[in-house]
Amino acid sequence: MSIKILAIETSCDETSAAVVVDGLEVLSNIISSQVDLHRKFGGVVPEVASRKHLELINHVIQEALAQAGLKFDDLDGVAVTQGPGLVGALLVGVAAAKAIAFALEIPLIAVNHLEGHIYANFLVRPDLPFPLICLVVSGGHTDLVLIRHHGDYQLLGSTRDDAAGEAFDKVARVLELGYPGGPAIERLAREGNEEAIDFPRAHLEGFDFSFSGLKTAVLQYLNRLRQKGEKVNLADVAASFQKAVVDVLVDKTLQAARTYDCPAIILAGGVAANGRLRSALVSRARREGLEVFYPPPVLCTDNAAMIGCAAYYKFLRGDLAPLTLNAVPGLPL
Ligand code: KG4
Ligand code: ZN
Repeated sequence: MSIKILAIETSCDETSAAVVVDGLEVLSNIISSQVDLHRKFGGVVPEVASRKHLELINHVIQEALAQAGLKFDDLDGVAVTQGPGLVGALLVGVAAAKAIAFALEIPLIAVNHLEGHIYANFLVRPDLPFPLICLVVSGGHTDLVLIRHHGDYQLLGSTRDDAAGEAFDKVARVLELGYPGGPAIERLAREGNEEAIDFPRAHLEGFDFSFSGLKTAVLQYLNRLRQKGEKVNLADVAASFQKAVVDVLVDKTLQAARTYDCPAIILAGGVAANGRLRSALVSRARREGLEVFYPPPVLCTDNAAMIGCAAYYKFLRGDLAPLTLNAVPGLPL
């Protein structure tokens, strides 16, 4: 029998619902982005996000079912992102999922948002070899995770200040490239010389990261040139900044794979959509005989299909949630 799961994701600024069969077949993956709404504020405004989720959630769920050609009665379970994320935003998804689980008397599955990002990889490659090193790089997280089996995670290190995506967004703001910053910096960087400016790379001990010094260095560089009245080559700044982030991410990820004897590495989270990060990791990993996998860009940024995939493996383990489930904004992996 195949297991059809309706998954809901509302942790930040995308209202998303998907139907996933057996953790593999995506029948629908509706993503309603609020980016245009938040752009004028230069970032996500939590109160605005929750109100918008509330407005959109029922339509997005109906659309996911319609596109999948299914009715509520066909579902075997309903999954939802429990955290981490914005509490008001998460609550909209959690309330909707609980209502559906209660009304249909089907299992409720609570998924950690970061676990969802990791499982975007299993949607594409269900046969990934364990143990795996996963680099989770999103707007809120930069984590190196050792995955020994399904559901068995060991956090090796994380950022001590800004997340990688946050650094992209903040640098994009000072370069006046708009929100979200990651894709804008990647586009501009293609026209620049990544060796032009030698921005600092923080190599902390162990597997922790730090990006706030790099962000400050970019700001100081811009101020220095502007004070001297010199013209700034924004493409060179974008390319050199991106290279500095990528270098540190790749160094640490390979170091983790070597330390824990992992033959394969996976990428997850919005920043995993970055082409420069992907190509740098693949080429350096290849030299060491390591394999690298990553999801297509649409599954790297927030979406409900990844939640539906992670939920399937939890469902198989019997890891179900009670109807008293609550959102947990700081939920650890
Ligand atoms: O995973 P995600 O969609 O949301 C969170 O869980 O945070 O990640 C969003 C982050 C943003 O900071 C965005 O700027 C970054 O991912 N991002 C990128 C790219 N696409 C999205 N960063 C670098 N290059 C990209 N192509
Ligand atoms: Zn995310």
